[in-house]
Amino acid sequence: MSRRYYAGRDHRRAVSVEELRRVALRRLPRFEAEYLEGGAEDEVALRRNRSILERIAWVPRMLVGTGIPDLSRRILGDALQMPLVIAPTGFNGMLWPEGDLALARAADAAGIAFTLSTVSNYALGAMNPQLKTPAWFQLYPLKDTKTSDRIVDKAQEAGCTKLVVTVDVPALGAREWDQRNYRRPLKLSASSILDVLMHPRWLTQVMLPKGAPTFANIAEFLPAGAQSALATASCSATTAGASSTRASRASRSWGRSPRQSAIA
Ligand SMILES: Cc1cc2nc3c(=O)[nH]c(=O)nc-3n(C[C@H](O)[C@H](O)[C@H](O)COP(=O)(O)O)c2cc1C
Repeated sequence: MSRRYYAGRDHRRAVSVEELRRVALRRLPRFEAEYLEGGAEDEVALRRNRSILERIAWVPRMLVGTGIPDLSRRILGDALQMPLVIAPTGFNGMLWPEGDLALARAADAAGIAFTLSTVSNYALGAMNPQLKTPAWFQLYPLKDTKTSDRIVDKAQEAGCTKLVVTVDVPALGAREWDQRNYRRPLKLSASSILDVLMHPRWLTQVMLPKGAPTFANIAEFLPAGAQSALATASCSATTAGASSTRASRASRSWGRSPRQSAIA
């Protein structure tokens, strides 16, 4: 039997995650879609991860009543409606106008936690007052530990009480899709530019109102000209270099105050 997914552009009509994905891919220019979905090199690890996750199954519990199950849990001190935390993803502002805020608000409304990435495009200090529960903050421990400390301090000043330290980027993966889409940092290839022009809705919603989003939480620490979220490569070079020493240092500096941290 051939299956037919919703083929339109209105995300409100999508009935499943797969349909939302298709609506998003129709809307996004290729360089963004490939950033979002692409893995490193031949994507072997990506396929392996997916197939392992697909093998995990729920074991349903029978004859336990018909009421709505209570899924609420306290995680790192936050009372959540479900044991779910939105993982940090960078560059959300390049995918949807103020994409970080949209995700954070949706999480807040559902009573789950949201993690704002180091390479996000919305300032934590402006985001937290708009939420019932402050966002969690994710840190890529930087080569320059003083800068890491200052980023952590800023997150605390912004009212953040949870730090997620990412340790699985000791070196950058070879993201060949990005290499094909850019001539050099900040400079899309000619074919990517042509493709962008074929996505006027993305262009007018994301790029035209205020120009390319910036790395709102680390812009002040980046070299001049690398603050734009189009500067994938230069930002990545600055942030790469998580080591266990740097991770535990970040975790310790957070721990000086009565807050909590997790290693991701
Ligand atoms: C497009 C994309 C961007 C991501 N950006 C970040 C990031 O900025 N910081 C981080 O710690 N992890 C980042 N991750 C990793 C995710 O937080 C998460 O750990 C990973 O996607 C595995 O979860 P999943 O199986 O639900 O996708 C990113 C993942 C994706 C797919």
